[in-house]
Amino acid sequence: MLKRMILLGPPGAGKGTQAKLLAAQNGLAHLSTGDILRDEVARGTDLGKKAQAYMDRGDLVPDQLIIDMIKGRLDESAGFILDGFPRTVPQAEALEKIARIDVAINIALSREEVIRRLTSRRVCRHCGKIYNLLYNPPAVDGVCDACGGELFQRDDDKREVIENRYDVYMDATAPLIDFYRKRGLLKDVDGSQPTKKVSEQILAMLGS
Ligand code: AP5
Repeated sequence: MLKRMILLGPPGAGKGTQAKLLAAQNGLAHLSTGDILRDEVARGTDLGKKAQAYMDRGDLVPDQLIIDMIKGRLDESAGFILDGFPRTVPQAEALEKIARIDVAINIALSREEVIRRLTSRRVCRHCGKIYNLLYNPPAVDGVCDACGGELFQRDDDKREVIENRYDVYMDATAPLIDFYRKRGLLKDVDGSQPTKKVSEQILAMLGS
């Protein structure tokens, strides 16, 4: 099975949803730069203070801060799923110096569906489980099915911020599709399919 992977795709494509499933099923480490940054912000660290304004606007945090943050967190032998990194060509070039990659999976989704999904996303404050009020609602409003934790809406899931995140993705991150295609590492998945179907297709691509 391919064990060192990148999940690419616009905001809301389902990178976090799929990464959590894949990590649990295959014992791989899930590294989400968005989750790490949100934790830094919540703890009020120096990095969190530097990152917060960029995140609130839906802009990218400067490359060097992200590259320094990810270094030392990648264990090649154990395998990993990168969710939200790399996000720019300089980040992808830096990653090539840090670790080998087996595959980059591009989860494609339209702008319209990105906005629909992200305005209806809710996340558990305690365990991080991801819900959607339209497609995958919790059994009890505002309460996590898995751990009973409180569900909240991310600060950057406001419509105007989502629109900027999508534009930033098109401008800075979409070029990575060609970057990995040229290296023979890219595989495409249609992210508009139901979660289970997307997951089955990714597993088939990984050869498990
Ligand atoms: P980050 O947290 O990485 O946000 P993102 O890339 O915008 O991705 P999302 O977490 O919004 O979406 P997702 O694809 O994981 O979708 P999800 O599974 O939740 O980054 C946040 C910010 O941090 C950035 O804006 C930037 O400022 C900064 N940052 C992070 N990394 C950085 C980097 N490398 N460089 C610079 N800055 C960085 O699913 C979305 C919703 O859809 C959920 O409600 C879910 O339940 C639902 N859903 C998922 N799959 C399906 C499906 N198949 N069918 C129906 N609904 C589905």
